This record gives sequence, C-alpha cells and structure tokens, in this order.
Amino acid sequence: MPSRRMTVRDIAARKTTGHETEQPVVCITAYTTPMARFMDKHVDLLLVGDSVGMVVYGMETTLGVTLDMMIAHGKAVVRGSSHACVIVDMPFGSYQASPADAFNACARVMAETGCAGIKLEGGREMAETVQFLTARGIPVMGHIGLTPQSVNQLGGYRARGRSNAEADALLDDATAIAAAGAFAVVVEGTVEPVARSISSAIDIPTIGIGASPACDGQIIVADDILGLFGAFTPKFVKRYAELGEAVSEAVARYAADVRARRFPGPEQVFGATKGKR
Ligand code: KIV
Repeated sequence: MPSRRMTVRDIAARKTTGHETEQPVVCITAYTTPMARFMDKHVDLLLVGDSVGMVVYGMETTLGVTLDMMIAHGKAVVRGSSHACVIVDMPFGSYQASPADAFNACARVMAETGCAGIKLEGGREMAETVQFLTARGIPVMGHIGLTPQSVNQLGGYRARGRSNAEADALLDDATAIAAAGAFAVVVEGTVEPVARSISSAIDIPTIGIGASPACDGQIIVADDILGLFGAFTPKFVKRYAELGEAVSEAVARYAADVRARRFPGPEQVFGATKGKR
C-alpha cells in the first residue's frame, strides 16, 4: 500500500490486460467519516455515491439528492481517509443542462470537499461535458449502463445490454466517455458478455457493478455487503456481514438492561455509592 493517497492517475494506470496476476481496482461507497476510517486502508477508491439518498436518507430513488448533501458527505469521507482516492458523485440536475453548469457545480464539489475527482452518469450525450470538465482540471469518472438517475426514462432498474441494439449503444457510450478524457468508467447493471467486451474495447479502467469479473475493477454499495440496507439483496450483491442484525441484537440487549435497571451499573457512573444501585 503506498504511503501517499491514491490519485486518479494511479487509478487510470490500472487498466488490466486480462492477466489474472493483475490486481483489479477495489472500490466501495462511503458516506460518513467513521465508515471511511474503517474501509480506507483496504480499498483503492472510496466513492461518495448519490446512493446516499437511498441508503442514509431513506429516499425511494437518488433523484432528490442535492449538491449540498453531496458536499457535506464528501467532506466527511475525505476527513476520514488518507489512503484511498475519494470521488464524489454529481447529483441529478447539477450537471446535465450544460457544460458550464456542470463546471460550476463540479468546481464547488472539488473546492469544498478536497476530493480527487467527480463521477457523473451518462454516455454519448455527456461526452461534450466530460471533455469540457477534464480540459479544465476536473477529473471525471463516467458511469454507463444502468444509470439510476435515469430510472424514469429507463422504466426501472433492469439489466442493460440484452438486445444487440442496446449492446451496441452501450459500447458507443463507453467509447465516447473514454475518448472525452474520463479516467475510468463505472459499468453498472450490464449483461456479462457486453460488460466484458466494453472492458476489452476501451483503454480506461472499467469498474463493474452487476457487470463482469473481466472489468478492471469492482465497486459495491458498502451497506449492501454489510447487511445494513434493505430487506432485498440484489443478485450482484454478496453479503460479507449482517451488521443490521448485530445492531438490532445489541440495542435489544441495551433496552433490556435499561428496563431491568442493569444499565448503568457501578462501572458506568461517577462517584457511585458502594452497594447502591
Ligand atoms: O451512487 C452510487 O453508489 C453509485 C455506485 C453504485 C456506482 O453510483
């Protein structure tokens, strides 16, 4: 592990050539300082995803997330990390209207959080903006395939690339975002063979989620793999812990102790009189 913080150049240099000895880029979402502290040394990249809206704020979709929310959570994650490259997601409505609007919003995120770069959703239609931003000092991570901010347009969260037309369009999207100067691209919810061929077709790292083991890296929503979010586990999630259940059990024991006057005990109070409860 390098002693300095990983940069977007370090991530961009991790394009693999398909050899099993090459290490994929390890990415995970983070929204708070304590969670960033727990995860930082184990991963290459922490993404402050706009999934924060659903995971932390209980929203139905990511569409209600604001720039101020992303900046607050971005600052918290930068504060809690010293190793991983921190990337902040641009929320819906903050970057789609024009390259100039996107620049102003991204510049605020970069200046106020201290993150290394931003992520935005979209394919060919966002290439001009990606080029505008990267030419002006804002590193961009793309995001194609199943793009949750377009849930209304896409008509749900189904996997992309099942038809030939959709597969061709996804390849065009990836190529356009890479050519525009993105340092990496998230490929989400895309059928495996299509994600695999996108990975071998473009020369920037692909970061898969519900995509393919052939991607140059993988990303996941931390709360999904830790059992902290949602009753339903999507197909692409592997559960590594059941922290939600652990929290529930711990709080049940605390509640029982308070009700039975076992908490606080003599160890948890100041100047307790011996023998008195
Ligand atoms: O918002 C998010 O968490 C994301 C990842 C799932 C890629 O965009």
